[in-house]
Amino acid sequence: MAALNAVADLTVEGDVAIITLNSPPVNALSSPVREGIHSGIAKAIADSAVKAIVLICEGRTFIAGADITEFGKPPKGPSLAEAQKMIEDAPKPVIAAIHGTALGGGLEVALTCHYRVAVPSAKCGLPEVNLGLLPGAGGTQRLPRIVGVEKALEMMTSGQHVPAKQCHEMGLVDELVAEGELRAGAIAFAKKLVAENRPLKKVRDLNDKMIAARGKPEIFAEFRKANARKFRGFLAPEYNIRCIEAAVNQPFDEGMKTERTLFMELMQGTQSAAQRYVFFAERQVWKIPDVPEDTPLIPVRKVGIIGAGTMGGGIAMNFANVGIPVTLVETKQEALDRGLSVVRKNYENTAKRGRLKMEDVDKRMALLTGSLDLNALADCDMIIEAVFENMEIKKEVFAKLDKIVKQGAVLATNTSALNVNEIASATTRPEAVIGMHFFSPANVMRLLEVVRGDKTSKSVIATSMQIGKKIGKIAALSGVCPGFIGNRILRARTLQAQAMLLEGAMPWDIDKVLYDFGLPMGPFAMSDLAGLDIGWSKETSKSATIREVLCEMDRRGQKTGGGYYDYDEQRNARPSPVTEKIIREFAAKAGNAPRTITEQEILERCVYPMINEGARILEEKIAIRASDVDIVWINGYGWPVYRGGPMFYADIVGLPTVVAKLKEYAPKLGPEFVLSPLLEKLAAEGKRLSDVK
Ligand code: 3HC
Ligand code: NAI
Repeated sequence: MAALNAVADLTVEGDVAIITLNSPPVNALSSPVREGIHSGIAKAIADSAVKAIVLICEGRTFIAGADITEFGKPPKGPSLAEAQKMIEDAPKPVIAAIHGTALGGGLEVALTCHYRVAVPSAKCGLPEVNLGLLPGAGGTQRLPRIVGVEKALEMMTSGQHVPAKQCHEMGLVDELVAEGELRAGAIAFAKKLVAENRPLKKVRDLNDKMIAARGKPEIFAEFRKANARKFRGFLAPEYNIRCIEAAVNQPFDEGMKTERTLFMELMQGTQSAAQRYVFFAERQVWKIPDVPEDTPLIPVRKVGIIGAGTMGGGIAMNFANVGIPVTLVETKQEALDRGLSVVRKNYENTAKRGRLKMEDVDKRMALLTGSLDLNALADCDMIIEAVFENMEIKKEVFAKLDKIVKQGAVLATNTSALNVNEIASATTRPEAVIGMHFFSPANVMRLLEVVRGDKTSKSVIATSMQIGKKIGKIAALSGVCPGFIGNRILRARTLQAQAMLLEGAMPWDIDKVLYDFGLPMGPFAMSDLAGLDIGWSKETSKSATIREVLCEMDRRGQKTGGGYYDYDEQRNARPSPVTEKIIREFAAKAGNAPRTITEQEILERCVYPMINEGARILEEKIAIRASDVDIVWINGYGWPVYRGGPMFYADIVGLPTVVAKLKEYAPKLGPEFVLSPLLEKLAAEGKRLSDVK
């Protein structure tokens, strides 16, 4: 074996050369990896004893893509295109041997090889779209030539990792080899090619699938239409589609030029910068500076959940989904039955849509046990309380748990805003108490805010984060403050949205601006969906706010056919003249002459105070880093990922602009508004929020 460089080796076995890459963690195409491929192929070509070349990787995966950390830096060594040309133009067959994942640039390298073999557990994909990009190394021109237009559209706009078996069926992989025997299998395949004198199959030369799709623009039109909602606001899916259109309608080399132009445009834009930032943010969020990675974890084999309402049932599903048994405790049999039947219905609906087998519905339900007795939780390793949002009730529940539950268990609360320290004070073991704030619907929403109390132990923090990962959530750590990270920032926006109603904007004006910005819905549509009566009661209602008046009129949101909006039978929203009249009356009472509020002001008044609140959260050390705040807002509230979260967005706008605007609006922002000293300081120093660590 001869080392080509620090990350690549070349061996010759009989008449087969084997280039092995070993660049942990994921063999990304850094300059040494490109160098290794380039020089390895050149050497193997020059060696007249070599008849075929295998490209294989050590470690957990085949090449998982370009090295994202190199983006934006000056290129070093051979370019990816040069390495690929060396492969494709080789006069001897080159075979990619795939395990783990062949992604992005990795699959594009494999597509310049003349053949591809893979183990059954391998996956292939072009996930660039999820980084706001398109495959920039010929993938847009080569993939459709093998798998056809429809499949290429699906793969490239979703970024999905396609299992090897499916890849084999669609011709992307030429042969499957036995699991664990990739090297031997690939060499045997290479020998077979040589023995059969098989031709060098260059994907770039395949044209039949392109010709078949030529003159059929409806394929693309229909695809765009069918996915319009999913792609809304994103540039990358559309650019990927245009590249496939180019593959169909242009000669290969022209198509490559189109790919390059569109790739560069995306690479230089803010959407891709945001999406690449989010890629790393999602990996950073798990790292807690004062909780080392080797902190001992509490094994969670059995979970207890208290309250089988909206949240309790959804939370229970998360655990049943990964095979962890759950005991659900309620106060009344009726509530318990209702909770469990909602869970069953949810599972059955998933099964009806073909995403779960009927027998799995029963298996998961069998993991859920109901009880009316808290004592049933004595041997649970983790308890999650999801009873009414009321401090007295929560403290009572925790005091009881303290006496019942075995020592060493995690005692978590799903409170959305109450003080976790105060809840912990009801026990004699505050180190075991933590917030685990799920978002509704808890079985669907990806975010979990883990809220550490002043006394929460490191092992309880580490265990809660780890269990979050296990149940498929993205967990962000927060300190204790009203509303934690997410709802505290939401409140800053809500205050402004409410204030603007009294100044002359209508709910639909405000909602439209935020929808156009990329959020799934604005604050008033969200209220109507959730129900205006959350926390409202007829007995205490005093017609003091617009919301109270709407509730008193039984306009409690979508469920009553009206709230801020009017709804038809299909729950389509229309601006409501009734609401408008109520708002105008409130504005007049407040002595405000209605004015026209521009869309720009609506956006800035909603978003800049959120940024300010995020900065305060950072200076109070409630969040570890700005990117954690962004993770919360992307995964819990639908902030568009192509805008990178409120903190990243602030950096794009420029902190001096944000601060200047906040100062200008200050008289309108209400008594609660306090400009964040950190924000002001960073702006003055020309720094960015996302640099705060
Ligand atoms: N470049 C640089 N670093 C990368 C990387 C890449 N392409 N892919 C992963 N990493 C890093 C991660 O940041 C992480 O670093 P850390 O340990 O310091 O946090 C480490 O590798 C391990 O990654 P994961 O924690 O994600 O490991 P998993 O085993 O869960 O997942 C994976 C492995 C499926 C390969 C996943 O990392 C992944 O999806 N990677 C990105 C794949 C991708 O998007 N490829 C396309 C890149 S763009 C491109 O190729 C452009 C081309 O068309 C020109
Ligand atoms: P819910 O009213 O739907 O359910 C609460 C359930 O708790 C009821 O079924 C009730 O019978 C039961 N319960 C009350 N006291 C109990 C006790 N002592 N022992 C056992 N069961 C008891 O309320 P929801 O919406 O599920 O909220 C629960 C908690 O989750 C609250 O703290 C809330 O703030 C929080 N939360 C709610 C979200 C939402 O969108 N609904 C989102 C995130 C958190």
